[in-house]
Amino acid sequence: MNKITKILIGSNNKGKFKEIADLLPEKIKKISPQELKLGSPEETGKTFKENAELKANFFCKKSNMVTISDDSGLEINCLDGKPGIFSSRWADKYGGFDKAMSEILKMIDKINIDKKFKDTSAKFVCGLTIQWPSGKKISELGEIKGNITFKKGKNGFGYDPIFIPERYSKTFAEMDYNEKLSIDHRSIAYKKIEKKIKGYF
Ligand code: IMP
Repeated sequence: MNKITKILIGSNNKGKFKEIADLLPEKIKKISPQELKLGSPEETGKTFKENAELKANFFCKKSNMVTISDDSGLEINCLDGKPGIFSSRWADKYGGFDKAMSEILKMIDKINIDKKFKDTSAKFVCGLTIQWPSGKKISELGEIKGNITFKKGKNGFGYDPIFIPERYSKTFAEMDYNEKLSIDHRSIAYKKIEKKIKGYF
């Protein structure tokens, strides 16, 4: 078994890159797609898993390095799971995350009008794939349930300000970085993968 001494983190999203880098063992050298000018693939998958595998395969083939990639997003129950795999694309569509979050809050209010119980339930989902140049790959899913609230907090990235995980009273964006990282969807997926690759570190 060849030990992993360096790994390509196949994500051009700075927030996700940092979280994945901090989940991996410190001694492993982490490389970004930007360093190697690899561009990014079109996300044509229909699920988080399909897109995570597609990204890992793209970056792994281009770099010939062991690669870890994620595809993640926010699924809101009263919006039939939207934005889901389109979470990043909704930010582009509405002109940034702040505007996309405002739109989401409006949509939730509208759909819950006249209902006795306002359904704000949601979950963050992460598909995470590690792929070796040989083609071997391991994929796992991580999920964290919670509720959507009005924007609170300045930490984190993406939709962090509107998501309160179950059993907590603050949003991801109000949490300190390490507190979020210890419970979020990416760390849940990573811990499942870690169990299967311990011998490689
Ligand atoms: P993609 O996986 O590159 O398609 O992007 C997923 C999008 O979902 C990101 O742009 C984020 O905005 C959002 N997202 C995924 N994980 C998180 C998170 O931990 N916090 C906030 N937003 C997230």
